[in-house]
Formats: sequence, structure tokens, C-alpha cells
Amino acid sequence: EKGGYATFMEKEIHEQPHAVADTLLGRTDADGNLTLDELHVSEDELRAVTKIVIVACGTAAYAGTVAKYALERWTRIPVEVELAHEFRYRDPVIDEHTLVVSISQSGETMDTLMAVRHAKELGARTVSICNTHGSTIPRESDAVLYTHAGPEIAVASTKAFLAQITASYILGLYLASLRGSMAASGTDPAEVMAELREVPAKIEKLLGSMDRVKEIAYYMADSRSVLFLGRHVGYPVAMEGALKLKELAYIHAEGFAAGELKHGPIALIEPGQPVFVIVPSPDSEHGLHGKVVSNIQEIRARGARTLVIAEEGDEDVVPFADVVIRVPRTPALLAPLLTVVPLQIFALQLSTAKGLDVDQPRNLAKSVTVE
Ligand code: M6R
Repeated sequence: EKGGYATFMEKEIHEQPHAVADTLLGRTDADGNLTLDELHVSEDELRAVTKIVIVACGTAAYAGTVAKYALERWTRIPVEVELAHEFRYRDPVIDEHTLVVSISQSGETMDTLMAVRHAKELGARTVSICNTHGSTIPRESDAVLYTHAGPEIAVASTKAFLAQITASYILGLYLASLRGSMAASGTDPAEVMAELREVPAKIEKLLGSMDRVKEIAYYMADSRSVLFLGRHVGYPVAMEGALKLKELAYIHAEGFAAGELKHGPIALIEPGQPVFVIVPSPDSEHGLHGKVVSNIQEIRARGARTLVIAEEGDEDVVPFADVVIRVPRTPALLAPLLTVVPLQIFALQLSTAKGLDVDQPRNLAKSVTVE
């Protein structure tokens, strides 16, 4: 049942190319237009949306945070991402023109379900991005966009995360094509769909080059703390990398926005402190690449051990990196579908090196059906 892998998590990490490919499948008609059969909110209602609120917990919330960058860019609709349990007990400003998008692998997470109910009471339209057919959250939502990751057994979410990003991007592209909002960004939905279709092969390639990551995980098994830095869409990836390490290896880990370093976290840097840095593509806008390379330089000068995730061909990082982990080139907004993979493998290997239960970490349940 584990298909030759030692753990479900390892199997599910290796299923990620399929999770993305299958989630993309059947979303375009013969003319290349996006089709979303499962979306039963009228096109007029979607054109009238003035705000999107994404509600989710844990890894699903990080997928939502990645999606915010793409959705705002493509749709020009303001997007908020909120942890479902926080949303629920606030007095959020929501009306019938708000689209509340819940993201949940299981479809049974109590906090997320309650957030959806709260949103409905306030009159919002609700869309569920979910991996489990017929589960409660999609049943109670106005519309559903299923991720096709297949069953996820390991408690730590991996392939669902990639499928959730993919599905929310499809939703974003659909809204953008309805509203004709993408022209300003110099691209169009069909172009992004074509780029997304190239991602599974890139993940496959990446999975074939993880030996160095596995090696560093083994000699880092005694680490007391690991930090993760990212910027733009790399920021939620940093938080997801930290969450994986907490869950699987019981190591203190924190993800930061790289720009926040000098506002506090740089005080944590002392000789030998391991820091993963997710570097944006050299083609990124606003000079983000150079800014993150400077951050690596700053922390290295203070003795950090820098584990750098960078695009193939990015030579600027080399002088400041103790280890460089390469990912295939891809457009900036799609990069999380690649950069998170080494962090998943790292946490898996570190957990294995410590002799821990990878699939069933202590104190955790696969779906959290209580508050
Ligand atoms: O089933 P859901 O996607 O609603 O679950 C949400 C979180 O409980 C889940 O992502 C959790 O954070 C995972 N253990 C992360 O690996």
C-alpha cells in the first residue's frame, strides 16, 4: 500500500507531479477557455465580487497565502487570508459581494467548517477547495473545486499543499478571465495554464536530485533550531518548511519574511545557526532577488550556516551559501510548487534520522475535527 516506499509521506511526496497534473486536468475546453464545472455560483455573481477572503488552517492556510499573491495580481480583487479559527470569532466585514474561499484537504476541519458557516450567515458566497469528495465543507459550500491529489494518509500534508496552490490558481485564472483583468499584467490565463502544465515534469526532475538534501538532514539531526527565510511567495513556503520540521522532527523552527530580518529576527543569528533561504528567481520584479541575496550575505557574516534554495543558473548566491539546493527555472508565481519540495524531503529525512514516526507524529491527528 506504500508502493515500495518506507512511509506514506515519502510516497505522497513522490506523487506530487501527479497531484498537480491531475488537478489541472480537464479544466480547459477545446478553445482553451477555462471551465469549472463544479463552480455553481453564477458568472454575474463572480463578476460582482469585491473582496476575496481565504480561510484555512495549517498547511492549507499557507497554500492560501501563496494564492493571495497570484489572485491579487491576476484578478485585481483584494484578497485576505485568515486562519479559520481567528476569522470565526471576529466580526469580519463581509457581504454578498465577498467570496469566501475555504481550503481544506480533509473537508472536515472543524475550525474551517465553522468559518464557512460564519461566512454564509454573513451573506458571503462560499467556494471550497477540497481534496475529499462528499466531505462536510464542500457539501456546505455554494461551490467546490476539488483538488485531485488522491488520498493523503500521512499526517503531514505534502501533495495536498501543491494541489491546493494549483486549484486556487485555477480559480484565480477563471475569475481573471471572467473579469478580463489580466491584460494589465502582460499575460493571459492560457499562458499561465501552459506554464502550470510544465510544472509536474519539473517536480519530477527535482525529486531526482534530492541526495544532497537527504545528506544534510542526516548530519543536522541534532539541531536545536532551524530558521527559514523567504520573500513574496517564498515567505509562506518558509513558514511551511518550518511547520514540516516542527511536526515531523520536533525541532524548533520558524519561518520569517526576509524583509523582516532587521526588524528583529536577525538577533537570533549566532555562529552555526542553520538558516534555509528560499531565493526568488533572478528574473523577479522589484529587484527581490538581489535583496534576498543581500540577506544571505548579512546572516552569513554573523556566522549563520546558509542552506540556499535557488534556481538553476543563479550564480549570485554561490559565494554566500554553505549549501546550494537547485530548483528548475519557473515563473515567479509558480516557484512555490518547486521550492517547498526540498523542505518536505529535509523534514522527512530528519525525522527518519531521529528514528521518529514519520506518518504519525506525536500529538497530531490527520484531521482536526474538534475545536
Ligand atoms: O484537512 P485540512 O487541510 O483542513 O487540514 C488543515 C491542517 O490541519 C493541516 O494542514 C495540518 O496543518 C497538517 N498537519 C500540516 O502538515
